Amino acid sequence: MRFDLVSIFPEFFGVLDLSLMGKAKESGALQIQAHDLRDWTEDRHRTVDDTPYGGGAGMVMRADIWGKALDDVLKPAGRVVLAVPTPSGTPLTQHHVRSLARADQIVVACGRYEGIDQRVMDHYRGVEGVEVFEYSIGDYVLNGGEVAAIVLVEAVARLLDGFMGNPESLTEESFEGDVVEYPAYTRPQVWRGLEVPQVLMGGNHAQIDAWRRSRSLEKTALVRADLINRTNPLTLSTLDREVLTRFGWIARRDSARWEKVRIRRATLNDAVQIAQVAAETFPDACPYYVPVEAQKEHIERWLSVEEITKWLQSPDHRVMVAEIEGRIVAYTLVILYSEGDYPGDVPAEVIAPAPTYLSKVYTLSAWRGTGLSGGILEAAIEDAKPFAKGSQVVLGTAVQNKRARRFYRRHGFETAGRRVFMVGGIRNEDVVMTREL
Ligand code: ADE
Repeated sequence: MRFDLVSIFPEFFGVLDLSLMGKAKESGALQIQAHDLRDWTEDRHRTVDDTPYGGGAGMVMRADIWGKALDDVLKPAGRVVLAVPTPSGTPLTQHHVRSLARADQIVVACGRYEGIDQRVMDHYRGVEGVEVFEYSIGDYVLNGGEVAAIVLVEAVARLLDGFMGNPESLTEESFEGDVVEYPAYTRPQVWRGLEVPQVLMGGNHAQIDAWRRSRSLEKTALVRADLINRTNPLTLSTLDREVLTRFGWIARRDSARWEKVRIRRATLNDAVQIAQVAAETFPDACPYYVPVEAQKEHIERWLSVEEITKWLQSPDHRVMVAEIEGRIVAYTLVILYSEGDYPGDVPAEVIAPAPTYLSKVYTLSAWRGTGLSGGILEAAIEDAKPFAKGSQVVLGTAVQNKRARRFYRRHGFETAGRRVFMVGGIRNEDVVMTREL
């Protein structure tokens, strides 16, 4: 790969001899040549610019000088790109950079003042074997294209074979996969009271990968919503979609269109809507042999607006809801148990003391399979964590409900034992599952 950088300040490019760039130049993987545009002038003052036709502020760089320079420097053989940095160009992305890394020669024409006479770009667009790429490195105005040229050289050069010590660090980083990079940590383990996240110290690589992916998505959702917006939700994994629901992004099953979701603590005003969701979803968690009458009895007794209001008023009950277009579509209930106290129907010997009891995770059927249940489940556990007395999250789910058990296993729960769960006088056997907080 050969770069030719043409500018009235060729000494700008001395920085490219430093560090990795210098090494790449030495190794021959990369040749970089800086040229002084004024070498192609013929007047005593070595003039490169003139006043704009039509009037206006500033000076414009002359087409004839640039034409002579570029005719000399462009070596049409293989793939040749004439790159022109300008604030009015296409925003430069890693996608362009990857493509440019396959060129044989890139000539960067660095303008100053009010830019280069438009006919230069127009002319070379018509020259066979030359691609013209006008690019911007951001929505701000620099004094000239030199810094933007250096940006391009560095971004492209590091993709060339043999340039990076560890090619893996190329695939893992920001923008290679349309998400920004996860945060990195190294020694010391504690610095100014700040600890390295526990999961990174554990050596469980599947867990570490999942954690890093979550942090990438979280950061992308917070600072680069545009990147999420142009990602098709159908191309994302369930885990990715679960994480994104917590930051406001959801799409219906089989839909390529994002919608907005908000997962938040419930307030007293939500009691009526939560009761509606509870009544609609509870039957789905019941085994086939529980008669509709028994389900109804349970809903009226335990999932009424009055009962839900009690949860919302209780300091050891924590309720979360997910809201889409002002409607609640999912809810969770976590009950925090104190030392010596535990859910009456869970045999004490199968769980650790003072559990954080995940009593309910319910999602309207229209929003199942979208990642919402996993998102609200993790949000509920995180919400409860600071108040938990014991070390475990505990839940019970019907033995027959395989879908639920698979879901909880995916979220790190393991079977700990059984319990009996009464629904309107009907005995049900439940699996008790636990996970470390
Ligand atoms: N020249 C001046 N400002 C620029 C920018 N933001 N990007 C590319 N080239 C420039």
